[in-house]
Amino acid sequence: MSQAFKETPSTAPELTSKTNIAEPSLWKNYEYLPIFAKMRAEDPVHYCAESQYGPYWSVTRYDDIMAVDTNHHVYSSDVNLGGIIIDDNIQNDPDNEFQSANFIAMDPPKHDDQRKSVNGITDPRNLKHFGTIIRERTSNLLDSLPVGEEFDWVPTVSIELTTQMLATMFDFPFEDRHKLTRWSDVATAEGDSGVVESQQQRIEELMEMAAYFRDLQESRRDKPDNIDLLTMMTHSPAMANMPPEEFLGNLGLLIVGGNDTTRNSMTGSVFGMNLFPDEFAKVVAKPELVDNMVAEIIRWQTPLAHMRRTAMEDAVLGGKQIRKGDKVVMWYVSGNRDTAIFDNPDQIIVDRKNARRHLSFGFGIHRCMGNRIGELQLRILWEEILKRFRHVEVTGDPELTNSNFVKGYTSLPVKLHAL
Ligand code: HEM
Repeated sequence: MSQAFKETPSTAPELTSKTNIAEPSLWKNYEYLPIFAKMRAEDPVHYCAESQYGPYWSVTRYDDIMAVDTNHHVYSSDVNLGGIIIDDNIQNDPDNEFQSANFIAMDPPKHDDQRKSVNGITDPRNLKHFGTIIRERTSNLLDSLPVGEEFDWVPTVSIELTTQMLATMFDFPFEDRHKLTRWSDVATAEGDSGVVESQQQRIEELMEMAAYFRDLQESRRDKPDNIDLLTMMTHSPAMANMPPEEFLGNLGLLIVGGNDTTRNSMTGSVFGMNLFPDEFAKVVAKPELVDNMVAEIIRWQTPLAHMRRTAMEDAVLGGKQIRKGDKVVMWYVSGNRDTAIFDNPDQIIVDRKNARRHLSFGFGIHRCMGNRIGELQLRILWEEILKRFRHVEVTGDPELTNSNFVKGYTSLPVKLHAL
């Protein structure tokens, strides 16, 4: 692995109202880190007057992020006001009805009713059921991997396992599971991403997804006790009779929500354990640390860099005057590196006492619904890795996802060393 990936960059330019932390070029490597550190120290609620996303506020300190995330009376997620990501074009593109209508981008009371319909997926009884399936599927996959040969961890393990989990959560035909990964990629595809060639193609593929799920839904009508998300959507009063675009939007949310995030935490965990070998040695010596290590990896990785809100009234935040209609971006990736809360935040410390205080799942009414499922998958993955391998060695540089929203990896070469 080259030195560039081992060191946190330390210099940042002067902050001005032109400083645009969301500028995509800063996210190709770790250039955003020192700028956030400077913002937290000098201008923690920073106003960018002009950017490709229009003007916006950056909220960079842990406590201020918490203040926004837990105050949905002032800070709205409603897609009609701008939704939850900095780029309102993606959500409000008139051709893009497939991304907008779901409960992460709604305010109460509609948000609460729809979330309640599917929240039961993480009941302890269901987690136990999923845990058994996840362990079996994870073990099978790890047993099939080549030992001592280089391969790409991202498609072979992270994508495959999260795809299998999606199939499990929807009780989706296992042999068709790769359709779910494709639909997840298509649902989040931006114009220049190369995933689809045109908006027309994107719409056609999402229509195909809707048709597939409508058929599958028919098979759930007489099985209200089946443990899966589609059954819950089919039998809940708030979701049973949704207009087609909301059915599709919520399917999209449930497919996308747990996919990239968990996938990138899986890759981040392997990458992180190579960057901090002494920490990995602690886990090998004491496997009970896996639980805390998972929380710490999710803090350090911060798979979603930000969530955005829109102010519904004037408010004061960190001493700054926010006006009704302003775009307010909570940078979880910065709050998770705030030294007021986390000592040595750029380091992974597997036995960090307060790792669980991280912001990566958000807080407030939109706090991640699948956090326990994401953690479960990572915990089982590492428990099973430790039973089989002495080391998952990173053999080259990772390729990072080019995005200021999804913080992840498109490739990570590795080699396995047996116990
Ligand atoms: C490491 C894995 C994961 C991370 C880092 C993550 C992160 C997040 C974040 C940041 C939010 C928004 C929180 C806010 O606005 O306050 C969220 C919401 C959500 N997540 Fe996750 N997520 C993960 C896994 C999952 C999984 C496995 C599922 C599968 C069901 C899932 C489903 C959702 C849903 C449905 C919402 C919307 C909740 C609402 O609006 O009420 N997530 N997640």
